[in-house]
Formats: sequence, C-alpha cells, structure tokens
Amino acid sequence: MQQRDIFASKIGIIAAAAGSAIGLGNLWKFPYMAGKYGGSAFIIIYIIAIILMGYPLIYSEFAIGRKTKVNAADAFGKVVNKKCWNITGILSVISICLITTFYLMITGWVVYYFFQSVTGNLYVVPEGIDASVHFTNIFSSMSASMWIPAILGTVAAIATGFINSLGIKEGIEKYSKILMPILAVLFIGLIAYSTTLSGFKQSVLFLFQPNFTALTPTVVIAAIGQAFFSLSIGMGILVTYGSYISEKEDIRHIAKSVCVADTLIALFAGLLIFPAVFTYNLEPTQGPSLIFMSLPQVFLKMPGGRWFSALFFLFVFIAALTSLVSMLEIPITYLQERTHWNRKKTTWTIVTFSCLASYIITAGEGPLSSIHIFGMTIFGVLDYLTNNITIPLAAVLIAVLVGWVWKTDNLNAELAIGGRGEKFTDKILTFFLKWITPVLIVILMVSLLTGVQP
Ligand code: TRP
Repeated sequence: MQQRDIFASKIGIIAAAAGSAIGLGNLWKFPYMAGKYGGSAFIIIYIIAIILMGYPLIYSEFAIGRKTKVNAADAFGKVVNKKCWNITGILSVISICLITTFYLMITGWVVYYFFQSVTGNLYVVPEGIDASVHFTNIFSSMSASMWIPAILGTVAAIATGFINSLGIKEGIEKYSKILMPILAVLFIGLIAYSTTLSGFKQSVLFLFQPNFTALTPTVVIAAIGQAFFSLSIGMGILVTYGSYISEKEDIRHIAKSVCVADTLIALFAGLLIFPAVFTYNLEPTQGPSLIFMSLPQVFLKMPGGRWFSALFFLFVFIAALTSLVSMLEIPITYLQERTHWNRKKTTWTIVTFSCLASYIITAGEGPLSSIHIFGMTIFGVLDYLTNNITIPLAAVLIAVLVGWVWKTDNLNAELAIGGRGEKFTDKILTFFLKWITPVLIVILMVSLLTGVQP
C-alpha cells in the first residue's frame, strides 16, 4: 500500500483547516443568515455555539481522524470497533456531497461577478434604470441562463482538482500557505474601506446590540447549523484532515486557531456587507443574493469601484477555492482507499461527478426553476436539508459517539499526544459534548420538524 501523505508543518495544517472553514459560509451565507434571523440574536447564539459546541466537536473529529488514520466514512466505526457507527461518517459524506453541488454553483456566480467587474460590464447601468433594478436583472439573467454558472463552476472545479491532484503536502498544504495570506491582505483592505461608509455605525448596532426579541427555536437551530456549516463540522473534513496530522501536533491548539479565524472572518464579513446595505437603504434580509445585489451598489458609487469589486470577488473566490479543495478531499481520500487508484485518476473522477451533480442544482435555479419542493427550489431544499437536518444530526451522532461510546478518557488520551493534559475548561467542554449538545440539538430539530415551539 502507498504511504499515507502527511501535513509537513503546523502552520500548513492551520492554513489548510482555516482555508476549509473560511469560505462562502462566512462571506456569502453568514451575512444573509444574520440579516434574515434578526442580527444580534442570531450572532450571539452563533458565537456561543462555536465556543461550547463547535470547538469540542472540532477537536473530537481531529482526534478520531488522527487515531484511526482512515477516510471519514470508515473512521467512526473504526475508532470504537463497531461498524454500525459508520453511519455517522456516511451521513457526513452525504452532507458534503450535497453541499459541494451548490457550492460549485455559487462559486460559479462569484467567478462571473469577478469577470464582469474586470471588464466593467457589471457597472454599465442603462440610462433610466435604477441601480438596484439593474443589479437584480444581472443576477436573474445570470442564474436563468444556467450555462454561465455551470461553465464557470466547472472552471472552479478544475482549479480545485489541480490542487487536490498534487496531494496533501505538495498540493493542499502548499497552496493554502500561499492563498491564505493573500486572503488576509485583501480582507483587511476591504474592511478598512467599509469603516468609512456612513452606514457603518448602524451595522455595528444591528449585528452586536443585544436584542433577544427575535430569539426563537428557528433562530437557534439556524445559528447552530450555520456555526457547524462554517466550521465544517459533521461533514467528515476534520476527520479526514485529522488523519493527515502528525502525532507531534497539539490538536486543541489547531482547533482553537480554526475557530478564532473562522469567527473573526464571519463577523468582519458582516461588517463589510451591512454598511453597504444600510448606507444604500437595502433590505438586510435579502437572502442568498445579498452579496451579489447589495455590494455592487456600493462599488458603483465608489471611485475605482469596479476594481475594488474585482478584488472583492477575487477574495471570495479564493476563500471558496480553499474550501472546495477540502470538500473534494473527503470523497477523494475515500475513493482512493477503496480502489487504490492513483491520486490523479481519483481526483478527476470526483471532479467530474461533482460537476455533473452541480449542473442539476444550477438548472434548478434557471430553466427548471418552476420545480418547487415544499415551496423551495432544488438548491433551497439542499440548503435547508443540510443546514437543519443532516449537519446537526451528524453533530449529535459525533457527540454521542465521543461522549458515550468512545468515551472522553480515550479522547483526552489522544488529545494529550502532542498536547497537554486535561484542564478545567476541558471538563466543561466535555460536559457540553456529552449532555448539552446532543440533547439541545435533538429538541431543536424535533421542534423545527413538528412545528411545535417549546
Ligand atoms: N465551512 C465552509 C464555509 O464556511 C463550507 C463547508 C461546509 C465546507 N462544509 C464543508 C468546507 C466541508 C469544506 C468541507 O464556507
């Protein structure tokens, strides 16, 4: 059997894991979810969920991966020697395959906006037409055409496949170490500009001034689901990356860095987008098209806005690319271990299937948009299903597996390799993992599915 590849440096692991976590979830989804679910109420739950539920789940997943050193679908069963627990990994792999399809479509949208900014076409507003109508038209005609996002999503998938095909050390680690610093520089520049807009103060209030009137079980489950989506929990990626982490590394430290980086980027993304929304009197609750319709209105008014816009969409593209790389790594590791094909063949097979599946979702936003399931488009259904059902369910299963079957003593023993011994905070987090996370999520899911609000 081939030797398993391994991350060469800690900074490389952090860059790759943060690259996976930071993505469209932070830049495209978090702002519209926060807008839709009442701003600060959502954000407070989101932050609590990250600290008390997300963080322990991340290090648990890493620990399971490193302990078992196999793909995500087989790791959960292997760690407790009971095959039935593989259901957790299978659920995770299903989630990730569903998410990859719409992720590719949105990345296609981002690439389109990047090119339209560079050519300047995005900002040529026809005489007599209001800017907001113009941007709505551009967005609608892009999604209706289908072939534009499909082709550009394919371009993104090919770029991803190129990185994956080079392997962990030479591909994922190397490119994460190049791309993540570029991302940080672009982000700081964009934020600096945003603070100068007049709507900045209103955004800070909207996002951070405590307001619990909006707090309902729907908001809580949405915030938890979004926290897990953003940290890539319950989708096999952390187990997969964990399987490539060496015994010398402190897993807790890596998990902490990922949480901090991911949360900061999400919150700042809110601060980047809402000033635009408030300055130009747009609706904060607009939904998935928020960054495609709101932000361009700001860029339109800025001197040199077209170039700023190009930088912004380049930034989003890089964030999406590093996430896509980690998404594809899950089925790639799985398929390679099952078939023993070489890395290139495995990678391009997965890229092909992902693209084909994503065309269905893309068609669902365009020519097939009349198809509605429970009042949602195909993309809407997948987004709802993964955020509210499969991801939280996988998280519950992981919490139960680690807390009750594998047992926290074994978890702590794995964490102590390369790390330090147990501390007081670990006891609190373990308590959450065993008792609060599974119970709370199950109650919320039942309440959501039955419509009975506690
Ligand atoms: N966390 C990523 C983001 O915020 C998206 C994501 C969800 C993801 N699940 C994943 C990335 C699994 C990699 C693997 O955009």
